[in-house]
Amino acid sequence: MSINKFPEGFGWGTATASYQIEGAVAQDGRLPSIWDTFSHTPGKILDGTNGDRACDHYNRYEADVDLMADLGATYYRFSLAWPRIQPDGRGAVNPKGVDFYKRLVDKLRSKGITPWATLYHWDLPQALQDAGGWPVRDCAYWFEDYAALAFEQLRDHIDIWTSLNEPICSSFLSYSLGEHAPGWQDPAAALRASHHLLLGHGLALQHWRSVAGPNHQFGITINLSPVVCMGDTAADRDAARRVDGITNRWFLDPVLKGEYPADVLADLAQFTSLDFIQPGDLEIIHQPMDAFGLNYYNRAPVKAGGPDAGEKWRGGIMALGCGDVATASQGLPVTARGWEIDPAGLVWTLKWLTETYDMPPIWITENGSAWDDQVGPDGAVHDPDRVKFLEAHFRAARQAIDEGVDLRGYFPWSLMDNFEWAFGESSRFGMVYIDYETQQRIPKDSFYFYRDVIAAGGVEG
Ligand code: FCB
Repeated sequence: MSINKFPEGFGWGTATASYQIEGAVAQDGRLPSIWDTFSHTPGKILDGTNGDRACDHYNRYEADVDLMADLGATYYRFSLAWPRIQPDGRGAVNPKGVDFYKRLVDKLRSKGITPWATLYHWDLPQALQDAGGWPVRDCAYWFEDYAALAFEQLRDHIDIWTSLNEPICSSFLSYSLGEHAPGWQDPAAALRASHHLLLGHGLALQHWRSVAGPNHQFGITINLSPVVCMGDTAADRDAARRVDGITNRWFLDPVLKGEYPADVLADLAQFTSLDFIQPGDLEIIHQPMDAFGLNYYNRAPVKAGGPDAGEKWRGGIMALGCGDVATASQGLPVTARGWEIDPAGLVWTLKWLTETYDMPPIWITENGSAWDDQVGPDGAVHDPDRVKFLEAHFRAARQAIDEGVDLRGYFPWSLMDNFEWAFGESSRFGMVYIDYETQQRIPKDSFYFYRDVIAAGGVEG
């Protein structure tokens, strides 16, 4: 069979996040983040683990970059740990923390790998949570200061900067659903947090742009769960509209259009004041961007609720006007996390974004699957399900390009198994297996599959 090639220069990469891989939580002046506090709180993490050791990437980064080079990857998306760079969240920079990222980036560049930095992948310094965290407006300005300071320190090392990873997770999952740090269950606070995160994004980009050099590029990563309406009544359609509103359009519209969706504002006004949205905020949030990071895992099939509707959709978000919505299923095969495998949803999402918004170039900054990987008697890790998953999603991405989407790169989640938030070490998303006790790294079959794809510049078909 011939290879269906991606466009010349397409960016093949991998992705990770600081708290999930670095370990070394007390090394070189790092102070606790909300995730240290949360993961050490009994009952919060499924398998009782925490990020204290994770992949010890802080001390093993050179070997990890060698793995990326072996893979043939040309990009590496990672996040900067705020509690390493500015341990108190405010005030002085910690030079040792910055040095780590300089060493990492130097090593990447020595292998021809372009660094792609995310400012905030959820590890808020605990000191800032103690001062109110994202529900207070000041947090957006603390973030702006951190963004300015990190850029000043690393601007000559890193060209591509994204502000936030998945703001829905650091707001609703964290302050309403309670599944993520700091584990609050306060929907009104979560809504304020979502706005302050977006304001922080706008402030950061505004600042960066004002001091940037010609090579710098700026953007954001947003995760989307396109909603599939699984019923045909008016009530089903309204349920789908509300879920789409609060999970997707609430984040996209301000960033890409400079406005919150009117229908969602009307829904929300029924249960909380919206006075945290101040005059001028939306102009700040609506910044020109050079890159849009899409994280795609699956779609959200929903229908109207009712006494017999089954499981309620995302419990904690329900107070945001979706309390009656039920989770449904498209009947597709699922991963070990129970997430539907839906590559057609990726095509749909990419095309919908392109048709709906005035999009900057799109990069898939995360996409992947968890499986119960084991080291076999042959010492290898055979993960055929992940290979199949990746292949199907690469094909979907290729199709989207054919159908007119300006897609520039693809970073599967994740380079290696890591501390998967509330699921701890028990949920493995990596293309490299981590033995957490010995810290041995074993490339899985999917690593070799991806290496072949990168070398060939595409998938068979
Ligand atoms: C995303 C996160 C990432 C990882 C994957 C599985 O929501 O951004 O850190 O946990 O899910």
